[in-house]
Amino acid sequence: MSSDTAFQHYTAAFAGLIGARHVLTSAEALAPYLSEERGLYPVKAPCVLRPGSTDEVAAVLACCNAHGIAVVPRGGNTGMVGGTAAPEGHVLLSLDRLAGAPQVDSVNATMTVDAGCTLQSAQEAAREAGLYLPLSLASEGSAQIGGVLATNAGGVNVLRYGNARDFCLGIEAALADGRVLSDLNALRKNNTGYDLRNLLIGSEGTLGVITRAVLRLHPMPRSRQTAFMGLASAGRALELYNRMRGLFGDQISAFEFISAPAWAMLAPHLHGRAAPLAEGHRAYVLMDLASVGDDPGLEERFQNSLAAAFDEGLIEDATLAANETQRAALWDLRERLPEAQKHAGADIKHDISVPVSALADFIAEGQAAAEAVLPGIVGAPFGHFGDGNLHFNFAPPPGMNRSDFRARAPEVTQAVVGVCLRHRGSFSAEHGIGRAKTGEMARYKNPVALDVMRAIKRALDPKGILNPGAVL
Ligand code: MLT
Ligand code: ZN
Repeated sequence: MSSDTAFQHYTAAFAGLIGARHVLTSAEALAPYLSEERGLYPVKAPCVLRPGSTDEVAAVLACCNAHGIAVVPRGGNTGMVGGTAAPEGHVLLSLDRLAGAPQVDSVNATMTVDAGCTLQSAQEAAREAGLYLPLSLASEGSAQIGGVLATNAGGVNVLRYGNARDFCLGIEAALADGRVLSDLNALRKNNTGYDLRNLLIGSEGTLGVITRAVLRLHPMPRSRQTAFMGLASAGRALELYNRMRGLFGDQISAFEFISAPAWAMLAPHLHGRAAPLAEGHRAYVLMDLASVGDDPGLEERFQNSLAAAFDEGLIEDATLAANETQRAALWDLRERLPEAQKHAGADIKHDISVPVSALADFIAEGQAAAEAVLPGIVGAPFGHFGDGNLHFNFAPPPGMNRSDFRARAPEVTQAVVGVCLRHRGSFSAEHGIGRAKTGEMARYKNPVALDVMRAIKRALDPKGILNPGAVL
């Protein structure tokens, strides 16, 4: 949007479509929307639109398309890659009013959810119906289903249950030209041509705006075990992972790794609580087992496996959660890690994956490569070890300020991603591309794949109004 007169003309048009009170333009009303999780990208939308239905989302998009107005869709704003950072002149399309109660179909184990529902409210609705939505992220209290699907979010249970994509059976989305693609399919099998649902999932709002989805649910696990372990190295964590896979297979629902520097960043956030292990270790693993049926022997088998691992020197110490409260306390620590890293200034972030077998080598080589660029840099990797996915985040060398440190991000990232690619890994495993990784996309993504993506983008959004500057 350019001049003030044009701006007023468009806001009047939007008001006619969704009601004036849902078109936010005052500085005060805009303020809560004008930031993004990382604090790295300016968010300068002149207005925020809050449509209340799929048809209103579609009408807004048709209007923006007709007038060439760029639209940035916004869910819970918890993304890590600047995907919701609306540059000057782009309007923000908030989905937060699309938040009707999730509809659970217990017999078919599915749930129909509006885009603006938080992941947590969807989990709770499933639980009330005696079912389980295993998709779980630290930010689930704010992350909204539309954003979770648009970014194909992962989280801590991917190892057993998959990414957001693996939960989605059907989708409804408004397209750039104002048409609604309604495919709220609730079938396990539906083999009817191109998979448009999976095209929209992970497209980060660049191909359409997801307004509703049908998610598949799982049986609620009846037996659970959780252990927090201290180990001598990431190499030991890899050995332990292989051992546990052999013993428990798909019963492992989470196998999370925390390096010693990442663990140290949590210390100020214990708030007087005792640390779960008495001594410090070089590496930590938080592991969950879950069994759908009653499995009274699970605890004993797990205890025995931990005792054997201890005897063989695979682990140095362990604590087993004795009840749900202890289990929640251990997971609470894990979930505080992103916030703790933010406080510690771990501001050069990487969300990489490598084959699980390469994780220990990657950690050592990635740290060395970053050190070669910036001596004293503090690598604090943590993450979804069982998925081969690490958040290899770095804090500045002692004494270096944030802006000097951030200025070195491109070199550090190039060094770390170089190591990752040597191990045949991915430069973006979980968080998506957003605006943060378009450089890596252009540099590292297969050129034919990029061409095909651009052709799809042109077909669905010929005027380029949907989240321009993100992904491609
Ligand atoms: C996590 O695993 O906690 C999230 O992906 C957040 C992060 O990378 O900081
Ligand atoms: Zn993660």
